[in-house]
Amino acid sequence: MNVMLIGGGGREHAIAKYVAKNPKVENFYALPGNGGISKFAECVNISAEDIDGIVNFAKNNSIDFAIVAPDDPLALGAVDRLEAEGVKCFGPDKNAAIIESSKIFAKDLMTKNNIPTAKYKIFTKIDEALSYVATSDCPIVIKADGLAKGKGVTVAENFGQAREAVMSCMKDKTFGKSGEKILIEECLRGPEVTVLAFTDGKTIVPMISSMDHKRAYDGNKGPNTGGMGVVAPNFYYTDEIAEECMKKIFIPTINAMNSEGRKFKGCLYFGLMLTKDGPKVIEYNCRFGDPEAEAVLPLLDTDLFEIMLAVRDERLNEIDIKFKNMSSCCVVLVSNGYPGHYLTGYEIDFGLNKNSEKISGVDVFHSGTIREGNKFLTSGGRVLAVNAVAEDLSSAREKAYEAVKEINFEGMRYRTDIGAN
Ligand code: AMP
Ligand code: GLY
Repeated sequence: MNVMLIGGGGREHAIAKYVAKNPKVENFYALPGNGGISKFAECVNISAEDIDGIVNFAKNNSIDFAIVAPDDPLALGAVDRLEAEGVKCFGPDKNAAIIESSKIFAKDLMTKNNIPTAKYKIFTKIDEALSYVATSDCPIVIKADGLAKGKGVTVAENFGQAREAVMSCMKDKTFGKSGEKILIEECLRGPEVTVLAFTDGKTIVPMISSMDHKRAYDGNKGPNTGGMGVVAPNFYYTDEIAEECMKKIFIPTINAMNSEGRKFKGCLYFGLMLTKDGPKVIEYNCRFGDPEAEAVLPLLDTDLFEIMLAVRDERLNEIDIKFKNMSSCCVVLVSNGYPGHYLTGYEIDFGLNKNSEKISGVDVFHSGTIREGNKFLTSGGRVLAVNAVAEDLSSAREKAYEAVKEINFEGMRYRTDIGAN
């Protein structure tokens, strides 16, 4: 088969590694891909947001199957356009991707269907939003409705921060149209859990749970980022909680999307908080998390591409999906300054072994790199996601940090406490 993967981050590197293993995959392309992905797929310089470019490439190269991994092309309807050309896809259509691209849609869906989530109010007028925060207790959470590259959420500790967040969305239009409408939410407390799930709209199969580390610095300090590291499984997520989530959150979400006429096919991301009143949904994403994918997919013990084909053809019930009884620890190496301003173009030194992957069970997934001859240069805020798999979390942690020590580039920074608490 001719297969195309859309995207170019660490998540796509992990997907590419496992998809490339399937013998059905003959010609494999990544649009745009990155330095690491080029080991598994031919990288084509077409952006993940260039839907016309993607569709033309698929037609010109007789693509049979496409994996659309990032949120932007999913929200822009890449799957709808490709399927209309006869290209089978893994990923939700635009109608279903709205579960991530509109937080207001997601909140209304949960309210209508009694799916537990934080209490909220929607605002379209700046003065009403400001008077609401002035009379609310802090902390309080301000969210832009639309996609905002993971930066549209502020957990405001005081009125000043809440006011600033409202002004940033609605007056300064920091997130453009995405911030025209905002949500103001009750602040939930408790450990956070990510559960990624394969679903074809009929069957839902949760993967091993994980824990992202969103804050930039050790001790969960500093600004929110796309994710600085992950452990899987998440030690707070017991079998009992998993059962409760299946009953009260996962199945009701699939049923709710079906009854809205928005069948969801692909990977559905549940961002959960385990509150003292039980698990509640913080957010849905319509795709694999990044860096969650880099930690969870190495634990998958069933062929990823076969699962993707089954999801597309709505026969997920025929596949027995298994996970290794092991743990992952993934440490993200970022450019100095991330998530704010940073410089790129620095050569990456993979150490004396030339490759930390020589340590068994370690993968060095490329998030933001480009290849120049035999060299790899930094090209993003998140540069590498170093994941180690071992029998238990503490050995996985040890191994991941051992691998990190081999790697260096100008301005390299990472958290030293992934999985430590
Ligand atoms: P999101 O961009 O939706 O993933 O949100 C980013 C982060 O903000 C989440 O991972 C949580 O840590 C935090 N957050 C979002 N909503 C809430 C909430 N209602 N209560 C407390 N924290 C929240
Ligand atoms: N790691 C969070 C996300 O992918 O949205």
